[in-house]
Amino acid sequence: MPVKILIIDDEKDHAFLTKTILEQVDNNYQADFVSDSREGLKKAIEERPHVILCDYRMPDLTGLDVLRELRKAEIDIPFIVVTASGSEKVAVDFMKEGAYDYVVKDVAYGETLQAVIEKSLDKYRMKKDKERLETEVSEAYSKLKETQKELIQSEKLAALGTFSSGIAHEVKNPLAVILGGIEFLELTLSNASGDTKMAMTKIKEATLRADSIIQGLLKFAKPSEAEFTLLKPEDIINETLALMKYRCPLKNIEIKTEFDQDIGINADKNQIQQVLFNILMNAVESMPQGGTITITTGTWINDQNTGQSSCFIKIKDTGQGISQDMLPKLFEPFFTTKRDKKGTGLGLSIAKTILDNHNGNLLIESKISKGTEVRIILPLTRKNKE
Ligand SMILES: Nc1ncnc2c1ncn2[C@@H]1O[C@H](COP(=O)(O)OP(=O)(O)OP(=O)(O)O)[C@@H](O)[C@H]1O
Ligand SMILES: [Mg+2]
Repeated sequence: MPVKILIIDDEKDHAFLTKTILEQVDNNYQADFVSDSREGLKKAIEERPHVILCDYRMPDLTGLDVLRELRKAEIDIPFIVVTASGSEKVAVDFMKEGAYDYVVKDVAYGETLQAVIEKSLDKYRMKKDKERLETEVSEAYSKLKETQKELIQSEKLAALGTFSSGIAHEVKNPLAVILGGIEFLELTLSNASGDTKMAMTKIKEATLRADSIIQGLLKFAKPSEAEFTLLKPEDIINETLALMKYRCPLKNIEIKTEFDQDIGINADKNQIQQVLFNILMNAVESMPQGGTITITTGTWINDQNTGQSSCFIKIKDTGQGISQDMLPKLFEPFFTTKRDKKGTGLGLSIAKTILDNHNGNLLIESKISKGTEVRIILPLTRKNKE
């Protein structure tokens, strides 16, 4: 590849001479010259030569101005300044501004000029190699950090799993005793005063809540062995919606569905119901003033070559949304913004664990005040073509 050299020098004859000498000394050199410094700067920016040989003293823009303009535009081209003899200070000024080298006019020509050009080109290549290496190292480092973070997260989850299933079993037994005791007291104290009954109800509610947290912990720590059967997503969705309406009145909430009837998935019915329930509850809780939940099912091809497809269940709400900085934390067990409303922060962690066990995934996109879109991804087993 020819080395393109741009000579910027207001003395036309001198510039022409330099061009001729350069092309004689190395037939790989392709020199071009411009006598107007502003035009030279424009040409350098537009044509990006490999080397610039620039005179120092010129009307309008001086050599130093040209160099500064190039640096300002973040253009790194080996820049060699041509100075008059005896002006070392000028050369030093140029080097400080980022010039690669300098040559003394009328002295350094022919092979000396070639040596300076080659030295500058080497310096440039080394600099670029170093920069490339630095970027590669920093990319590798951030990748390593990311993997390390994922590893810590999965270790944390595993440790939490073992720990929580241990305590959950320990706590479950005394809770069962307390619940039994409450039921016994309810029977024996059936004629008690309103206050006593109220206290009993409060104790019972709190105990049931503790029990449901423990159940949640157990599900998260050790999801029961999945029983895979062929299912139609719309059937599980409709059943879950019915269950939800029974559990909580959907005040001012409209539910729209759009099902692709041809989908079949191989999944554990109870577990997928649990996933849907947790996500739908979040959607309902994000719309205290009401809104719309849209549930869509469909398929898409993940791999054009193999034709491998997935099934998706999209649950979109028009609720309060989730801020971007919270998105990475959603699957952390016990991450909740509903502590005051008795949220435990296990809903999405359980959903994610279940979907991981199904070789699926859970994707969440959200915009504050606009709403949230949760996508459940599951491997597609078959398209029913009856
Ligand atoms: N659809 C949604 N709209 C707005 N925020 C959401 C939505 N889904 C999840 N979130 C946010 O993610 C957090 C974690 O959700 P997750 O379901 O894991 O726990 P939770 O709902 O707080 O408690 P619970 O264990 O009762 O489900 C919520 O506290 C909430 O801030
Ligand atoms: Mg929840």
